[in-house]
Amino acid sequence: MLGLQMATDPRWVRIVEKNIEEILVDHAYCEQKAASNAISMIVQYPQYTDLVEAMSAICKEEMEHFELVHQKLKDRGLQLGFERKDPYVNDLALYLKRGKVNSTPEGVFVNKMLFAAMIEARSCERFKILSEEIDDADLRKFYRELMESEARHYTTFLAFARKYGQGIDVDKAWKDFLAYEAELMASYGKKETMHG
Ligand SMILES: [Fe+2]
Ligand SMILES: [Fe+2]
Repeated sequence: MLGLQMATDPRWVRIVEKNIEEILVDHAYCEQKAASNAISMIVQYPQYTDLVEAMSAICKEEMEHFELVHQKLKDRGLQLGFERKDPYVNDLALYLKRGKVNSTPEGVFVNKMLFAAMIEARSCERFKILSEEIDDADLRKFYRELMESEARHYTTFLAFARKYGQGIDVDKAWKDFLAYEAELMASYGKKETMHG
């Protein structure tokens, strides 16, 4: 799915189900961070008008998702709480920092796009498995709807990497990154967070 080479172990859903508060709080912050990242792309790349427009739209959409998740917390008598750690995202960042692409401005840009694309793709896969497997009927429906909107995001980031990553073999960089992510995923699927 979405080019990902390693599916999430469905047993992850059984872990998540035992702590709905944890997954919802972590998920709310995933949406907030996706919105923050979109704003940061606008600030860093104002010269790309189409990117500015797309990031502005994504930011709005992600904050709408944040509000929806926050509402789910409130409906269940829960509070947002503080941000949870996301070691998966740190592992992705470390890989890109080790410099598989390169450190030219185009390389840095491509890395930022691939980073966002991967997080979107894996999040979307996690939403899909939740929409199919989670015991709670309300959350199954909720994740089904979110999944559809997230599926578009990863292709947006990949398209910008290809468009503005002059001189970089973006397809190869993405393929290598997917291979690394699949290896990484073998050690995840054990915690009740969105990328845990
Ligand atoms: Fe989202
Ligand atoms: Fe997204």
